[in-house]
Amino acid sequence: VVRHDEQVTGATPTARRPLLGDAPTEVREAVEDLLGSPVAGEQPAAGGFTASIASTVTGAHGSRLFIKAAPIGDGTGEAVAAGITLAKAAGDLGASLVGSASVGAWRIAAYEVLQGEAVQHWTAEDIPRLLHLVERLREHTVPCPPLPTTPYADAFTPLLGTWAALLSASRGERAPGKPDTEQAAPGGGPAVAPAVEHLTHRRLPVDVPLEQLADLESKWLETLSPGEALHHGDLRRDNVIREPSGRLRIVDWTHLWTAPAWLDLVRLLPDLAASGHDPQTLLGASCYAQAPPADVNVALAGWAGRAWREGHLPEVTNLPGLRSMQREQGLHTLRWLQERLR
Ligand SMILES: Nc1ncnc2c1ncn2[C@@H]1O[C@H](COP(=O)(O)OP(=O)(O)O)[C@@H](O)[C@H]1O
Ligand SMILES: [Mg+2]
Repeated sequence: VVRHDEQVTGATPTARRPLLGDAPTEVREAVEDLLGSPVAGEQPAAGGFTASIASTVTGAHGSRLFIKAAPIGDGTGEAVAAGITLAKAAGDLGASLVGSASVGAWRIAAYEVLQGEAVQHWTAEDIPRLLHLVERLREHTVPCPPLPTTPYADAFTPLLGTWAALLSASRGERAPGKPDTEQAAPGGGPAVAPAVEHLTHRRLPVDVPLEQLADLESKWLETLSPGEALHHGDLRRDNVIREPSGRLRIVDWTHLWTAPAWLDLVRLLPDLAASGHDPQTLLGASCYAQAPPADVNVALAGWAGRAWREGHLPEVTNLPGLRSMQREQGLHTLRWLQERLR
């Protein structure tokens, strides 16, 4: 776990999750229908960064399901529904979808329970398996299967603008596109510049000029909106399960997004860097070695800005590990970007 800008060690913290046992009666009954028996036991998932139900439930006769459930409205039920829509495309890269249900506003997905655990630290043995997994991911996601997708770059746009805002602050200027000016930032950034007061006295852990970060970030939309692939969007070790055989599986398919095919791997590599692996070497060894270098830099700058800004915001109740994960991602994304810009 990264504490501020320090080196990384340790385990993934846990979301404080609501329990199926506390969900509305009709939701619990729907799960019992899927399980084929009353729920005899519930074990909430140990990892992840969503405060919604994700539990392994056990039936009276020992049958087991991994249940995700949430109401539509705040994005969590939508995420469960997207997982149902994506199950076929994900295939055996992920857990198989055993069944699903809609109960009022609630969406319920029942998956097979995968053996093993989410990765806490990427080992040397994981590397060839991961590179193989990324090749299989490409087979499943390029071209994007016929699904109601939108560009990931659009969804990320509201989270951009950290570097432009810090640059303005460093020059003593008003940030671009503040509410009273109602202007979008150049390059299609967010209409309202993000608040960065909590960062203005914090030193970046790398030696990359703000001008350069802001310039890269400003190219986000034009660079990353086109894309031929289905984009997972949350590839990190808490969403990869290492089975007892060592095989890796990707869980938590919750976005109906398209993006350049290499983007999921590039997103994942700072997470490997946090376990001591060199992201550039891994990119070069992967099926995406030819990812356009300038575009990769744009992606890294955009993510790093979000992670740097949000990682230093106050903790989120029920998601105690979120900020430290973001700081870790920010640190390793920035370090990799610095190496690439040298
Ligand atoms: N099918 C499954 N079988 C066993 N464990 C799972 C399964 N799917 C996910 N998990 C575990 O549960 C955690 C939370 O599930 P996930 O789908 O990632 O939800 P969240 O959106 O809350 O992160 C994951 O980090 C993973 O460790
Ligand atoms: Mg997850």
